[in-house]
Amino acid sequence: MHTVLCAIFLILQLSSSMPVISSPSSARHYKSIFSFGDSLADTGNGPVIFQRFSIFNPVTRPPYGSTFFGRPSGRDCDGRLIIDFIAENMGLPYVPATQVHNGSFHQGANFAVAAATTLDADFYHERGIPGAPSKFPLNTSLGVQLEWFESMKPSLCRTDRECKEFFGSSLFFVGEFGVNDYHFSFQKKTVQEVRSFVPDIVATISMAIERLITKHGARSLVVPGVIPSRCSPPILTKFDDASPAAYDSKTGCLKAYNELGMYHNSLLQAALSKLQAKHRNVRIIYADYFGPVMDMVESPHKFG
Ligand SMILES: *[C@@H]1O[C@H](CO)[C@@H](O)[C@H](O)[C@H]1NC(C)=O
Ligand SMILES: *[C@@H]1O[C@H](CO)[C@@H](O)[C@H](O)[C@H]1NC(C)=O
Repeated sequence: MHTVLCAIFLILQLSSSMPVISSPSSARHYKSIFSFGDSLADTGNGPVIFQRFSIFNPVTRPPYGSTFFGRPSGRDCDGRLIIDFIAENMGLPYVPATQVHNGSFHQGANFAVAAATTLDADFYHERGIPGAPSKFPLNTSLGVQLEWFESMKPSLCRTDRECKEFFGSSLFFVGEFGVNDYHFSFQKKTVQEVRSFVPDIVATISMAIERLITKHGARSLVVPGVIPSRCSPPILTKFDDASPAAYDSKTGCLKAYNELGMYHNSLLQAALSKLQAKHRNVRIIYADYFGPVMDMVESPHKFG
């Protein structure tokens, strides 16, 4: 799974025109970046957590990191992630992984862990997803990452007013979340069954945003949608039992899975519109990770 997301990532990185954040100039004033997510945002937590569960993690070895950091950096990627480019752009340090960094988190903290799910691990384990011998999903869900953030909070600010001021001038990344919920579920459940999880998953993301806004004073949040997860060669090889009709004849992607991703993204955007209408002094930015990847799959010639 790591290689899969990294492969997608490498493509994403090359797309310098990707409209992730609409106004980088005002963004420079952010004091700090707080990030929740999975391998698309994890800057080093994965190896520490996986080791705790005795799971081998290929990202701890070359060639991971050889192109940019010069050594494996704990990212599920050979270079920088989207969040690294955003931090660079804002003149902030690379957002430090909370399980690794021993120092101040005043300029940001990254709680994202590779393979993290939106819903708690119990939800999946109770349903035998993906089932033994897999240890996934690990106890690193969005809710758990929020708890980590809340435990760290007293070291970042003291009074309610100071905290609201500090988090109000920070940028929050909530996601991407969803890809791993679907990835694990598909190993045991039909597309229809997995589809029934989508509203819960989106509601959980929505509640996390609400909590960051109302309880902690977040005022700027970037919320990425899911990528088209059934286009990449490693995934297509792993799930190669589909009938020819299951593939999109133009792109070679598995249609039903990408339709599920679009369904997730449409529910997520609707939820974000509701939150935005409720919290008018807050900026909630939906980041489209789906369209740019599809563009690359459909028109690879445009990208060299
Ligand atoms: C963390 O940093 C402190 C102070 O700089 C140091 O004393 C301590 O040994 C460090 N801990 C680890 C686990 O590296
Ligand atoms: C999951 O992690 C959270 C936060 O670290 C902890 O409170 C909880 O007890 C853990 N749950 C399990 C089942 O390990």
